[in-house]
Amino acid sequence: MACSNIIVTGGAGFIGSNFVHWVVDNQPGVHVTVLDALTYAGNKENLAGIPEERMTFVHGDICDAALLEGLVPDADAIVHFAAESHNDNSIADPAPFIRTNVEGTFQLLEAARKHGTRFHHISTDEVYGDLALDDPARFTEETPYHPSSPYSSSKASSDLLVRAWHRTYGVPITISNCSNNYGPRQHIEKFIPRQITNILCGIRPKLYGDGQNVRDWIHTEDHSSAVWTILTKGQLGETYLIGADGERNNLDVLRAILERMGKEPDDFDWVRDRPGHDRRYAIDSAKLQRELGWRPQHTDFSLGLDDTIRWYADNEDWWRSAKDAVEAKYAAQGQ
Ligand code: NAD
Ligand code: DAU
Repeated sequence: MACSNIIVTGGAGFIGSNFVHWVVDNQPGVHVTVLDALTYAGNKENLAGIPEERMTFVHGDICDAALLEGLVPDADAIVHFAAESHNDNSIADPAPFIRTNVEGTFQLLEAARKHGTRFHHISTDEVYGDLALDDPARFTEETPYHPSSPYSSSKASSDLLVRAWHRTYGVPITISNCSNNYGPRQHIEKFIPRQITNILCGIRPKLYGDGQNVRDWIHTEDHSSAVWTILTKGQLGETYLIGADGERNNLDVLRAILERMGKEPDDFDWVRDRPGHDRRYAIDSAKLQRELGWRPQHTDFSLGLDDTIRWYADNEDWWRSAKDAVEAKYAAQGQ
């Protein structure tokens, strides 16, 4: 379908900004309107270098129906990344997660319904709950929803709204559920950038629980190419899982970071586990690969980790001012 004028919500955050850069670099002729509230997780600097004629930035809230009414009629599509995205924050204070992730998605769907706008919803593998470490199964599009945290249940709620707006009102939607992203511009509250910036600051990295929890890592560029593929070639009403066969436990990821940064394998602290901590996520992306022909390109995790460590080392200005507050918040939680 024609997607020459798209709204990207949450485009100043980690994955949204990487998607905007990917579109500008790979899809000439596409104009992007970024709608972002610039919460603690949003940063306009993430969009630096994008030519003015390719992007308009709108500072605003996805819950603001009047603002949406001024933007949505001109767009071919909405790609909806905006969310409160961090599990630990959702455990400490769930309210903003319900507002942005549920109410915000509802407002966007209402605008899409009114104007018949194509809507792609970005979601997470966490809606499926977790798998046991010794379970050979992976999540598929058929796996029942079983979210664990306030964050993942708010995302599951938003997915269900999107499905209902398609079935009842015929809104032209697709949904993608992706695994854990890594790469440049990820907020330093998250696992990989927190440990890298800890080491850069001379702070010992912190590992939750027994460190055996498994996440299925994908480079954020591969997430971007998958979202574009689904937006332009996906079957309306369908869900696609995005993953790159990147299962690793947290201890192994941390030890890979320590080794690359010249530290010993035990140079870290064990800290309090996350309440309700999901054990393992694993994505089977066969449907996306078979039906739409998408393939991940950044499958060498070691290379991706090297680039990510280099990015944080080279961009201390980007993260330094947030570091003390992030660590103080974790310390207060025993993490
Ligand atoms: P992020 O926290 O880095 O960025 C979120 C962005 O949304 C920020 O720019 C923030 O300012 C903006 N935002 C928040 N509330 C808003 C509101 N009410 N109105 C407008 N803008 C608002 O998040 P991320 O890690 O880039 O995740 C982006 C999306 O991808 C989310 O929907 C998340 O659930 C999903 N996702 C993330 C991952 C991951 O590994 N990080 C994996 C799968 C799916
Ligand atoms: O699976 C997709 C999800 O991945 C996304 O939907 C979320 O938006 C995103 O934040 C991410 O959620 P996780 O909770 O898996 O990511 P996080 O980076 O917070 O933690 C990754 C793992 O590392 C998890 O098992 C908890 C652990 N952890 C985390 C931190 C911050 C630690 O051991 N130490 C830490 O300091």
